[in-house]
Amino acid sequence: MKVSLGLLALLAQGLLVRADDPDAQCIAAITLAIGKFKFAGNSSANAQLCTDKLSVVSTWAAAKMYCTSNEIAAGQKVNSKTCKKAGLQLVSYQEILPFLNDDFIASLPVVDFDDIKLHHKWNQSILISPTLYRDSFMTNIMTDREDGIAKRYGWAIYGFWGGILLIGIINHWLSYLLPFQRNPALADEESISKSRKPGPRPSGLLGVSNSVQHWVRTNLITPAAFGLHHRRALYWCTIPTRIQTVVVVLFYVLNVILCGPTYTVFRENLKLSEAEQAWRYIADRTGILSYANLPWLWIFAGRNNIFIWLTGWSFSTFNIFHRHIARVATVEAIVHSIGYSVREVYLHKYVGLWSETYWYTGVLAMFTMGLMVWFSFMWFRVRAYELFLLIHIVFALITLVGLYYHTSSKSGTEYSPYLWPLVAIWLFDRVARLARIVYCNLHIKFGDSSMVTTKTTATYWKDANLVRLEIMPGSRVYNPAPGQHYFLYQPMKFKGWENHPFTLASYLDLDGADGTIGVPAGEPKQEATEKVAEVPDVSLTPSTESPAPAPVPIHSDKEGQEQRLQHHPKQTNGPGQRLVFMIRPADGWTKRLRDQCLESPTGAIHPKILIEGPYGEKSPLDRFENVVIIVGGSGITAAISYLQEHIRSSANTKGSTTRTRHITFIWITKQAAMIQEIAARELRPLFGRSDVQIHLYATSRNSKEPTHVAVQTGRHADFADKSAALSDIEKSSVSSTAGSSDSQLEISWGRPNLRGLVHSVINTVRQDGGDEADPKLAVMACGPAAMADEVRAAVYSAMKAGNRGVRYFEETFG
Ligand SMILES: Cc1cc2nc3c(=O)[nH]c(=O)nc-3n(C[C@H](O)[C@H](O)[C@H](O)COP(=O)(O)OP(=O)(O)OC[C@H]3O[C@@H](n4cnc5c(N)ncnc54)[C@H](O)[C@@H]3O)c2cc1C
Ligand SMILES: NC(=O)c1ccc[n+]([C@@H]2O[C@H](COP(=O)([O-])OP(=O)(O)OC[C@H]3O[C@@H](n4cnc5c(N)ncnc54)[C@H](OP(=O)(O)O)[C@@H]3O)[C@@H](O)[C@H]2O)c1
Repeated sequence: MKVSLGLLALLAQGLLVRADDPDAQCIAAITLAIGKFKFAGNSSANAQLCTDKLSVVSTWAAAKMYCTSNEIAAGQKVNSKTCKKAGLQLVSYQEILPFLNDDFIASLPVVDFDDIKLHHKWNQSILISPTLYRDSFMTNIMTDREDGIAKRYGWAIYGFWGGILLIGIINHWLSYLLPFQRNPALADEESISKSRKPGPRPSGLLGVSNSVQHWVRTNLITPAAFGLHHRRALYWCTIPTRIQTVVVVLFYVLNVILCGPTYTVFRENLKLSEAEQAWRYIADRTGILSYANLPWLWIFAGRNNIFIWLTGWSFSTFNIFHRHIARVATVEAIVHSIGYSVREVYLHKYVGLWSETYWYTGVLAMFTMGLMVWFSFMWFRVRAYELFLLIHIVFALITLVGLYYHTSSKSGTEYSPYLWPLVAIWLFDRVARLARIVYCNLHIKFGDSSMVTTKTTATYWKDANLVRLEIMPGSRVYNPAPGQHYFLYQPMKFKGWENHPFTLASYLDLDGADGTIGVPAGEPKQEATEKVAEVPDVSLTPSTESPAPAPVPIHSDKEGQEQRLQHHPKQTNGPGQRLVFMIRPADGWTKRLRDQCLESPTGAIHPKILIEGPYGEKSPLDRFENVVIIVGGSGITAAISYLQEHIRSSANTKGSTTRTRHITFIWITKQAAMIQEIAARELRPLFGRSDVQIHLYATSRNSKEPTHVAVQTGRHADFADKSAALSDIEKSSVSSTAGSSDSQLEISWGRPNLRGLVHSVINTVRQDGGDEADPKLAVMACGPAAMADEVRAAVYSAMKAGNRGVRYFEETFG
């Protein structure tokens, strides 16, 4: 396809800016065209350019016809440089000009594009036609033009992710500025009832804004893209939420459009055939787009991704983006490689290229990218996480080095500056990890020149199949809070570099300075220690296999609530913090940790463990008056910290710092023993509270009979009466404890009807809300994928039914 002269002018104006001297393009086009013809005398290419009379006269004749004097001067400068390099003296325009009168030029045979193919040997000078001049000009600028377009398209990738992140950042920070979010705490009942503002929903602009927000939350943010799979994989694939899907689909569409068939390929190209042009441009475009995707790929993979903090989006959201960017960048790299291979085959240069560094390093990088994507599929990741990680790190390193040699200045291309940001992002993440490890685990006391390090006690509860890890960090960790997780290392053991994330189940400030649950605000430090006492009244179902439980000290606060703390005199770091993690052994490090505990005659060990954190964002449950927490198995870890924070916040002597008035806590687990163990420790302060309703379920076969957990519960919530959707067995077990002040908590057997439970609590809250249009209720799930998906679906259907105050939160395994 031929471009018009108008387009040519546009191209010359807009795109020639890339050439060293745009004026030189005119002579460059003529030189290229004349170089395609043969003249009598069989001169070499350089001689033809510089000294061959027939050829040089042809060049300057065309120059007189098509170029301005500035362009002739600029072009002549370039050509004479080339000639000088070849040891020749260019016959100048000025020397030939006297002969270039109109009659002489009119006498010259005019040649066109098709004459090139005749391979005629000219024994006189020639004049290139205007169309041949234009074709030659286009040929010269087209590669630069395509390169320029590809680079601008690369910026579109930056614009896309920049825009998406900006929306996330604005949305996140706006949420802190809205009045409801700014004042989460309401100190007294009076202000609570005032805040309810019974009546119809707001109208006008506020009403429209609320409706839009509700629609977006209901139809885009909460549900999975399709069906009921989100945490559960579908054919070994993660199904994102709808909003994540929209972003991912837009990203794919953008890349397809940017790689799309918008290339200017024309038959009369003097250097390349149409096929060669197409492959070359596709290869260049996809190569540059692949490079443009790399910084996002690296940023979104990091633990210390500042956008997690800026947007409030979870690591798993960024992980979804990371995976899709990786796939796109890899496909682009593969197309890039194919494009160049085909082109080189056309040029008959393919075989020789394998000795070129830029060639084989590029191929290597393409292969390692492909292998990383292949070994990242869930099927492999779940089976061999450590191998997946090793492959990822080693291959990412090879990819970086390979790309550096592929596009360094030595290979004639200048793309290595695109790679340095990746090195910087990676280094930042690694240094930040190291800094966090040092910060959490090492405290140097300059006064007495001593060093405090992290102390750990690990205990394995056989019946519950759970390792409980109590950690006293060497240094105070920064602001422990619900929703956080830490990476744990056991550096002195085999594979000491391994590190695994675990949710912070519970934390205790032994100084009591922050009014934590263990030491109520205002009580002196020493008193806290003195109040620790042996309390034998917690009768747990005796385990046949596990060692008899060690006596557990209890700490009482003013209201008579008790907090049991395990007492490990050898493992104290003096007053500080105590972090508790609950670990369900799998097959790798967690199993090895369990085995270490089993080898100990006491069942408890004191391993050298380092923590790195905190990571993860807290879900704002405390902004909701009603909260439903549903957890499965070891998902209890996430619930404990939120429940404990609720107790702390509502007991704050300076006034409640939470909006939450009712919590419905549902825990389904296989082993009743797990409930018993944790009920006697972390959950104990919940019992007897009127604002927390507890439903416990055990599903393993040997838990068929309802089990009684004998714990001093005190009053129980009247809120329980309203759970209409419980199955018969569930009803009987719950009603036996509801409203009582005895010491029994029952564990029901079997899975509950989660959907029914969620809807029933929402209905109850609506009835309690009176005239309030949209009572606020948060539902949080943490547990097996199927359970989380079921709860998400239940909340989605409630939101669909018009419950605007309902929100869904999920703590996931990333
Ligand atoms: C944010 C987060 C919080 C978590 N909190 C808890 C918790 O409180 N309690 C708990 O018992 N478990 C928790 N886990 C899961 C825990 O990290 C894994 O069970 C643990 O890493 C398994 O280690 P392993 O070597 O024994 O695993 P393997 O037997 O090798 O693998 C078991 C499973 O864990 C996955 N896995 C292994 N290593 C990692 C890793 N480093 N990062 C992510 N996944 C991994 C594997 O893909 C596989 O699916 C959490 C995971 C995440 C991402
Ligand atoms: N912060 C976090 O992200 C975090 C922390 C800890 C755990 N977790 C999650 O929690 C999961 C728990 O694993 P685990 O091995 O500890 O659990 P588990 O011992 O297998 O217990 C899970 C319990 O949930 C029940 N359950 C499963 N699907 C259900 C559903 N759809 N409805 C109702 N009940 C259902 C199971 O019942 P059955 O026995 O009938 O199957 C079982 O009793 C992990 O897979 C992880 O995803 C997340």
